[in-house]
Amino acid sequence: MTADTLTITRPDDWHLHLRDGAAMADVLPYTAKQFARAIVMPNLKPPVTTVALAAAYRERILRALPAGPAFEPLMTLYLTDNTPADEIRRAKESGFVHGVKLYPAGATTHSDAGVTSLAKCARALEAMQAVDLPLLVHGEVTHAHVDVFDREQVFIDEVLEPLRRDFPQLRVVFEHITTQQAVDYVLEARGRIGATITAHHLLYNRNAIFLTPEGRAGVRPHYYCLPVLKREPHRQALLRAATSGNPRFFLGTDSAPHPKGDKENACGCAGCFTAASALEMYAMAFEQAGALDKLEAFASFHGPDFYGLPRNRSKVTLERRAWTVPNELKFGDATIVPLAAGEALPWKVTT
Ligand code: NCD
Ligand code: ZN
Repeated sequence: MTADTLTITRPDDWHLHLRDGAAMADVLPYTAKQFARAIVMPNLKPPVTTVALAAAYRERILRALPAGPAFEPLMTLYLTDNTPADEIRRAKESGFVHGVKLYPAGATTHSDAGVTSLAKCARALEAMQAVDLPLLVHGEVTHAHVDVFDREQVFIDEVLEPLRRDFPQLRVVFEHITTQQAVDYVLEARGRIGATITAHHLLYNRNAIFLTPEGRAGVRPHYYCLPVLKREPHRQALLRAATSGNPRFFLGTDSAPHPKGDKENACGCAGCFTAASALEMYAMAFEQAGALDKLEAFASFHGPDFYGLPRNRSKVTLERRAWTVPNELKFGDATIVPLAAGEALPWKVTT
């Protein structure tokens, strides 16, 4: 490794939204170029609640793949109040379903079919624990009386801690963590827990939603995602966790494309699109923290180790070559505005 190139084991994205149809075919190549595998979120409309739906979705993804390096979609099921234990066992037997996603009902985009009470899922959770299929949690409560910025920390006390007490052998991924409290929980928890961290939560604090980089006021909907960006001390805690070398923390972009018109809207959707510059953004964050040497383990080792999958053998190279994130990208018959559109990034993936 020299100062101007960085070659690492090909990474995986452990939390990704690909959508479906022509829009999926437009965003998939960005991920397939950088990552060997990705955990594909099941929040389609209707959601991917069965192994049969996951198999069909997986086929559509494989058919839409461009020529290039091999890419494997790792499928997930969307947990509902009614997911039968048999479906969990079928998921494990399938070999291509690698986790089950818990969306508290109403927490985020396309989560209206989500879980209303974990008590209703006891059979499914028991089966997941028995067959060792990980539970991936969107860790936010949705009560109207809880401040949006506090949803994650309330979730830890009210949902996650009791859940892990009741199912101590369940493998859990605390997805897209955003707070010091979540970092501390993952550091201190006993048992089998991991956490994904997005590039945007490493690079931005909540000011980015309301201010330009020059400090000019104005709502910036492309910086709105869930869990929402937090204060600077939380960003610093996430950076310390990601660059610590602790194997419980690994890369998950939560890249979540929405048509431009659905973001630039009086009721704009939550989600940041980062897939086209994902590894570059992580490299920028790690370099700013003086920890580029910790990027490979976070991006390429800790995830497969947690999921019990082999580490990739191929490599990817980043070059120090400044480039500007495009203003818009094609997304079916619409466009997406990527996160950091128009901003310069110092690193570029070249292979
Ligand atoms: C995601 C989406 O758009 O599907 N949005 C987001 O802000 N992250 C859903 C999710 O992961 O919460
Ligand atoms: Zn997500």
